[in-house]
Amino acid sequence: MILLDGKKVSEDIKNEITAEVVKMKANGEKVPHLAAVIVGNDGASLTYVRSKVKACERVGFESTLVKMPSTTSETELLKKIKELNENDDIDGFIVQLPLPKQIDTQKVLMAVDPSKDVDGFHPENFGKMALDMSTFIPATPFGILELLERYNVDTAGKHTVVIGRSHIVGRPMSILMGRKGFPGNSTVTLTHSHTKNINQITSQADIIITALGVPNYLKAEMVKDDVVVIDVGITRVADETTEKGYRITGDVDFENVSKKASYITPVPGGVGPMTIAMLLKNTLLAREQKRMKNS
Ligand code: GUN
Repeated sequence: MILLDGKKVSEDIKNEITAEVVKMKANGEKVPHLAAVIVGNDGASLTYVRSKVKACERVGFESTLVKMPSTTSETELLKKIKELNENDDIDGFIVQLPLPKQIDTQKVLMAVDPSKDVDGFHPENFGKMALDMSTFIPATPFGILELLERYNVDTAGKHTVVIGRSHIVGRPMSILMGRKGFPGNSTVTLTHSHTKNINQITSQADIIITALGVPNYLKAEMVKDDVVVIDVGITRVADETTEKGYRITGDVDFENVSKKASYITPVPGGVGPMTIAMLLKNTLLAREQKRMKNS
């Protein structure tokens, strides 16, 4: 079994990005600037957003964290997005999801200027991704592709089973794994809450990508020998023995599934750090595209 070490690979990517930023500075160019908007006080979301901002500092990017109260109206958030769209100093920005109930998420995502949409959630960018056009690929799926590529995991002609059809992970992942090229050329099955006989489907999978948010969902009996397992789950489970009072648990029963797997991501230290690294990569791309447009 080979561990797909997202912590290490994400460090490699951050070092590569840092080297690019050093070059930009030496050439007297503006460094990339990422802004992140968070609405409300959800602990997990705040932690993720702070990690994104911290990662910016680590690679030499500028960053701005915009914190808005949980009572923020849709109009107020749309006004903030307009400001960020029009602020020439900001190269890319994200609106952390989920948003409070009073706000229509689709309306918000559609308000983001596609050229600054480093999450790749705007329909224009999502459509381009589905059509194999050059665009921002959502950070988590992009991170999974990068891990598969850097470990040279064979995906062509393989049966990839994606568990969960979220707009952020499952749906884009199902599209990307079926695209032409590497990683891709997979035969993809997208499973969800209405899927019947899921164990039968996972048992036939060469590659399983699970993004459910149900701790220890994928058991050893559900997979075949030499399966490749990508665990996108990051659920906080109460644990009094830890300092924080919780631990992060994936969708996979790692202890038992890892005995059968050829490659597997750990949680934590697998997909999570890759998501942040690829958000930085998209921000670098946004900066580069803006520079080319203005030159
Ligand atoms: N919430 C969970 N994952 C993500 C992500 O990748 N981007 C944003 N904006 N919100 C999220």
